[in-house]
Formats: sequence, structure tokens, C-alpha cells
Amino acid sequence: MGCEGQILSPGSDPLDPPEVANLTCDPSQYANVKLEDALREFTSNVYPALTQGQSTCLGCHNASSKRRFLTTGDASETFYLAREGGYFKAQPGSLLDRVTAADPMTIMPSGGEAPLPTTVIEALARTACMVQTFEANGGPAADEVFPPELLTPYTGAANTDYDNPFINYLQLKAKVKSVFNDGWVRSGVDNFAKNIGMFGGVDFTSHFVEARVATSDFLLGLDLLAPDVCRQAATNKTGPFAGLNVTQSLTDSSGTTNQTAAKAGITQVYQRMLYRDPTAAELSSTYTLMTDLVTLDTVTGAWSGACEALMRHPDFLFTLPPSYATATDPTKSMLVSLSQQLLGRPPTQAEFTQLATAGLSGLVDAYLKSPDFQAYFFTRMQLRVESQGTPDSDESARLWTWLVVNGQNFEELFTGDYSIDPSFTKQPRAAEHGKTGVLTMKGYVSNKPGLPHYNYPARVLSGFMGSVFEIPPEVFAMRAAATAASTVDPTSICFNCHQLLTPMAHQRLKWDDNGDYRTVDASGAPIDDSDRGLVPTYPYKGVGMEAFATRAVKKEAFVRRMLNTEFVLLMGREMRSRDDERVIYKQLWDTAFANGGDLRQVIKAVALSNTFQRKSP
Ligand code: HEC
Ligand code: HEC
Repeated sequence: MGCEGQILSPGSDPLDPPEVANLTCDPSQYANVKLEDALREFTSNVYPALTQGQSTCLGCHNASSKRRFLTTGDASETFYLAREGGYFKAQPGSLLDRVTAADPMTIMPSGGEAPLPTTVIEALARTACMVQTFEANGGPAADEVFPPELLTPYTGAANTDYDNPFINYLQLKAKVKSVFNDGWVRSGVDNFAKNIGMFGGVDFTSHFVEARVATSDFLLGLDLLAPDVCRQAATNKTGPFAGLNVTQSLTDSSGTTNQTAAKAGITQVYQRMLYRDPTAAELSSTYTLMTDLVTLDTVTGAWSGACEALMRHPDFLFTLPPSYATATDPTKSMLVSLSQQLLGRPPTQAEFTQLATAGLSGLVDAYLKSPDFQAYFFTRMQLRVESQGTPDSDESARLWTWLVVNGQNFEELFTGDYSIDPSFTKQPRAAEHGKTGVLTMKGYVSNKPGLPHYNYPARVLSGFMGSVFEIPPEVFAMRAAATAASTVDPTSICFNCHQLLTPMAHQRLKWDDNGDYRTVDASGAPIDDSDRGLVPTYPYKGVGMEAFATRAVKKEAFVRRMLNTEFVLLMGREMRSRDDERVIYKQLWDTAFANGGDLRQVIKAVALSNTFQRKSP
């Protein structure tokens, strides 16, 4: 071209674009390209055409359309979502492919609308080429960074769920022990163990799934527990009744001496059971309750009745006492919640005292160092990894607990090349495990069949990578005739899921379904545990589960599951990381990476967050 410029023949219109657009991608044009450069090109020269004017995509691809390709009200969000969806890749089905398709059934916009102007298509080609070059130059993959679209403010509806976990079996047992010094063992029978099903607990022999909400069975269990424990304590003047005169009349023939003493007693029982004073209304209603009860029962029986009522009080049964909302100093309620969620027990008197000097932050530090934390966290991780309670099946829960207690990088859950023994001591393990953390632990592998069942990869991906598999009914009929190769045919409906399941199942082949290592198959032939190039786009290519593990830990989906597990520990529910909790998600993400993957810092950040403290953000 040089200085000659473009020579236009007379009559040609410079505004009428040439017929054939230049869509080839020349990476040398974009050396050192940044993702922001691609975003800028997209925002200025592509996005307006997708969302304004006549042949707009917005009508069919808006955020509520459930299409896989989405155009939102924000250019950068649209760009990043498209990148995560792979729509800038040089492959069939990409944006460029769809807007330039020759087939009228495929071209977008659909419905016979005018195609996009050539200038827009060229800008889209440049955008895609920049993204491809950025990735080819080693830029982090779209699924290995904090999702940029979550950096924009959430604009959806506010969540209105009641945000307070109900007490679980272990927490209840520990609370009764702490308040009453009573393990509820009567005539040699452990009544907690006997009624564990009612309270939704887990013992790994008959009960494996924990109840997460209040059930009618739980309330029936309380009907057994409360009268028994309360009457024994009132009779023995122990627990909440220590130091009280529980036989003295509640009323006076003249004056108010007995009444005043009874009300002081009620205050004590509130403090010991609910960790707070009664309000004036509660004081008078409890006193009235007791004077009613005494017409049917002894004075001691009336005290027991007051205790039973408090055991059914929401402040006793929710891990965060709901009265926090009206408390003058809600920090005490927060400590009750923190202690129950981290240690599985209520705070001690010494810890309440410590709260005044060390604050919640100091107590989190102390708690995270305590043996109670390790013991309770381990029970949470047993449930998380669906342990069967045997030493082998507990091994992965021990590793997870050890990593957190010792502030090690959470990535080692997948990449640790060692074991943690039942005394929580780090031990070397056989070299064949390599860097695979829990993924080759005998107890983790042994109840998850690999090829040809795909259960193992499905459980790894759903348990740690956030995948959800909803198998359509028509697939079941087609399974019988399937071969591993047929599941990874890109044109089949199987490919969507099996592009990951099938290569990963091959990478686990050196571990049999009992979780034992082998190097040859049943016929004596050596095993190839590479992904075998079954799927060209498989993100975890290589030999054995180590190839999977070392790449998987870089994925945002894995990091999110790790952060979410700590969030669940304190909040008793999943983090709404894509919606109204994207800000705390980012905060936890930054905290984890600033501290070398130390999840204690993540737990602390959750505990000190407005979310945990139920303050508006
Ligand atoms: C009249 C509605 C309509 C319009 C307008 C429209 N699309 Fe689509 N689009 C669809 C439907 C329906 C599908 C799913 C069926 C298919 O793949 O053809 C689809 C699929 C797609 C896909 C595949 C991913 C997915 O979400 O399923 C892409 C990419 C796409 N469209 C891009 C665009 C672009 C870019 C525009 C604007 C230039 C556009 N579409 C305009 C209806 C529309
Ligand atoms: C929506 C995701 C999904 C799709 C689509 C899908 N599969 Fe699967 N498939 C799975 C999962 C998950 C498992 C493991 C299920 C389990 O262990 O409970 C599985 C297991 C299997 C199994 C082992 C079944 C057994 O009895 O052990 C076969 C065979 C199979 N799939 C073949 C296919 C074929 C063939 C297709 C396509 C026609 C297909 N799948 C499509 C997700 C999918």
C-alpha cells in the first residue's frame, strides 16, 4: 500500500464495505497483546452492534434467556462470559463461525434478520484473534482466574432466606454437656446415641447423612431430652441451677422476698442456657409460667419446666441466637455462633471474658489453634468426603483437616505426595501416588468405580470442581452399546459430559476399584494411564491422576469449592458466589492467594465479614 493509498474507481462508495471481509488471524500482529486490548476492541466495535439497532442479538440472548451465549447490559461482562464459554476460540460454533455461517439454519442473527455489517464481523475477528494470541502466549486461561464478570456489582434481587443454621446433633450434645454437665447417659444407656436418628446425627454405622434443617423428628427428640435433663439438673441443683434454692416457694404471703429471689434465679438460668439476660417481658412471663406449673407440680418441677421451655427457645436451637437482632451488644451472640460453628460447642465463661479484651478476631485465632477445632473440623470433612468412618475412608478427611490446622496450601488436597496418619502426623507414602493428594487414597478410590462406570471421575468433578451431571433419560437407553471411544465422539450427545469423564477414567486406570495400585491389567498387559489423546481439548492432558491434579488446582472452579467449604463451615450454607455474594467471594479469593493458600485466613475473613455478622454490606 505505502503512500499510494487506496484508489477508488469512479462511482464506488467508500461507505459500502467490500464483499469479502478479512477474517484471518495473524498472531504476529498482536505480540504482547493484553486481554484488555481485546476487551477494548470488543467494547468499541462489536458490542454496540450486538445490542443496538435492528439485527440485535440481545432480544434472544439476554441474561434471562438461558442461552449459552449471553449478551448482558454490560460490554465487559458480555466479553468475559463469551471468553469463558469458548466463543472466541478458532473452532466450529464460535461467535465468528455463527455470524459468518453459510448455512441459513446456523447463521446468527437467526430468523432471517440482516447479517452483521462486515466492519463488525472484522472487529469480531480481531477480538477473537487477540484472545487466541493472548492465550497462546501463556496468558492465564479463562477458567483459571477470578471471573471478571463478577467484579461488576450484582443487580439481581436481594436474597430473603432466613440465614441461620439450626443446631446439629454434635452441637446439641456438646451444648447439653456444657450447660448441664450431662452426657444424657441413663442406666448405662447413651440416650444421644440411641436417638441419633431423631436428631439427624451421623455415626457412620447406621446413620451417614446429617440433617441440615429442623425436622419434626428433632422436636420429638427434644421432648425426650428436655424433661429428663432439666429435671435431673433441678433435682441435683447442677448446671443452670447450681447455687439456686429450687425448693423455696415462688411467692410470698407478704412482701416480695421470694418473688425477687425466684426472678434472680430465672435470670441465672437464662444466662447459663441462652448466654444472656432475659428481657423484662421474658422475666415476667417465665415467672408466670412457673407459678402456673407449681399448682400441678413441686417448685423443683416448676424450675425444671422453665428450663425445658428455654431448651426449646430459638436462642438455644439456632447456632446464632436470633436475639442478636435486638441485643445491645450482638458480639456475644456472634461468639456463640462462632464457637458452635468452629468448635461444635458453645463458648466457655473464660472465652466470654476473653471476648472483651481480644475481640472476635482474637478468639478466632485462639479457636483455630485449639484441639476442639481440629476435632470438630474433622467431623465436617468426614461428611464432606462421604467417609464411611473407617481409618482408610477417613484418610482424605484427615489430610483436609491437617492442611487447614497447619495453614498449608489448600492445593495440596489434590497435589500432596504424603499421607496423614490417624494421629494426624504427616507420613511419606509410596512413590506411585505421585502428587495426587486425596485422589489416589485407597479409601477415596475404593467406593468409586472407574472404567467402564465413570463413577470416579463423576464424583471427583462434582465433589471438587462444581460440575453437575443431569443425565437426560434418552442417554440411559444408549449406554448399553457404548464404548469408551463412542462417548468422546464430538458429534454425539455424550460428548458434553464424557469429554472429561472418559479421559479421566483412563488416567485412573492404575488404581483398581479397590483402590489398589497395579501396573498390568487382568490379562497381564501393561496399563497405559495417559488420557490417550481421546479428546483434543481435554484440559488435564497427561499421564495418571497427577496430570489431572496438578492442573485442576489452578481452576477457578476448584478454588471456589475450597473457599466455599470454609464458608459453609461458618454459615451453614453455600456461598452465593455468582450472585449477591460475589464481593465476599473476591475477598476470600484474595485472602487465600495473599496467604499462600492458608485456609485459616479464609475462615477468619468469613468470621469477621459483614455476612457472618449479619450486617448489611
Ligand atoms: C431470533 C432469535 C435470535 C437472535 C436475534 C439471535 N440468536 Fe443466536 N441463537 C438463537 C437460538 C434459538 C439459538 C440456539 C439454536 C442454535 O444453536 O441455532 C442460538 C444460538 C446461538 C449461539 C450458540 C450458543 C447458544 O447460545 O446456544 C451463538 C454463539 C449465537 N446464537 C450468537 C448470536 C449472535 C452473535 C446474535 C446476534 C448477531 C444472535 N445469536 C442473534 C436465537 C437467536
Ligand atoms: C449429562 C452428562 C452425561 C451425558 C450427556 C452422558 N453421560 Fe454417560 N455418564 C455420566 C455420568 C455422570 C456417569 C456416571 C454415573 C454414576 O456413576 O452414577 C455416566 C456413566 C456412563 C456409563 C456407565 C454406566 C454404568 O452402568 O456404569 C456409560 C456406559 C455411559 N455413561 C455412556 C454414555 C453414552 C453412550 C452417552 C451418550 C449417548 C452418555 N453416557 C451421555 C454423564 C453423562
